[in-house]
Amino acid sequence: MPPENIPITPFDAVYGSTDCYYGTALRDEFTDYFDNRDVCGKTALDLGCGEGRYALYLARRGCRVTAVDRSRPGILKLKGMAEKQGLCIQAEPIDIQDFTFLEKYYEIIVAATVLDHLPDELRTQTIHNIKTALAPGGIVYVNVFTVADPGYRAEVKNAMNKALPGVSDTAPCMAYYFDHGELKSAFSELEVLFYYEATEPDLSHGRPHRHGWACLLARRPPA
Ligand SMILES: C[S@@+](CC[C@H](N)C(=O)[O-])C[C@H]1O[C@@H](n2cnc3c(N)ncnc32)[C@H](O)[C@@H]1O
Repeated sequence: MPPENIPITPFDAVYGSTDCYYGTALRDEFTDYFDNRDVCGKTALDLGCGEGRYALYLARRGCRVTAVDRSRPGILKLKGMAEKQGLCIQAEPIDIQDFTFLEKYYEIIVAATVLDHLPDELRTQTIHNIKTALAPGGIVYVNVFTVADPGYRAEVKNAMNKALPGVSDTAPCMAYYFDHGELKSAFSELEVLFYYEATEPDLSHGRPHRHGWACLLARRPPA
């Protein structure tokens, strides 16, 4: 049974519905990279998996997936979807701060809009843990929101308000917005395969809004 002592977060409420809150679509740079590669049998970790759209994709592609998120409803929904699709995913309702990262173990690690939800110390520690948990030759995919996000501008003006045009209704959950280039610098000892920053519209949830994105694909050099 999942532990009961995990705090209720705003994500618990949105993951309680039958629809997938963020939809099921994955970002193009992720599928562009993985769609045509043989990943069957690879060990994969989806950190802050939410309802598990990245974990489900990797499991469908034959990866041995571990998925972690502190939202129990998110993990339960992911498990339900995996079962319906006949997929096996090791999914755990656990806070990232309590997760044991196995050294050089994962051949694929995904952290999709989760590092920016972590407080400073945990974020720094998690970036370090991702790099040490990545197997030689392994690939990490990370995306985060940046200071170009309208939510950041709303925050720095001390005017966080759900009615602000262009600001996501999940903006109050954000812990941090990455500076320009900061995500790339954080993984600079890896081989950066793809890096992208832009502001894009988001129609996947809530009212129409925009996000400032930074997205990175990087490889740990082979041993
Ligand atoms: C914006 S959602 C992204 C979900 C998923 N990665 C996706 O792209 O659909 C952020 C997720 O991070 C999770 N999260 C935030 N802080 C966490 C922590 N300290 N430990 C585990 N999960 C956390 C939230 O519960 C939420 O599901």
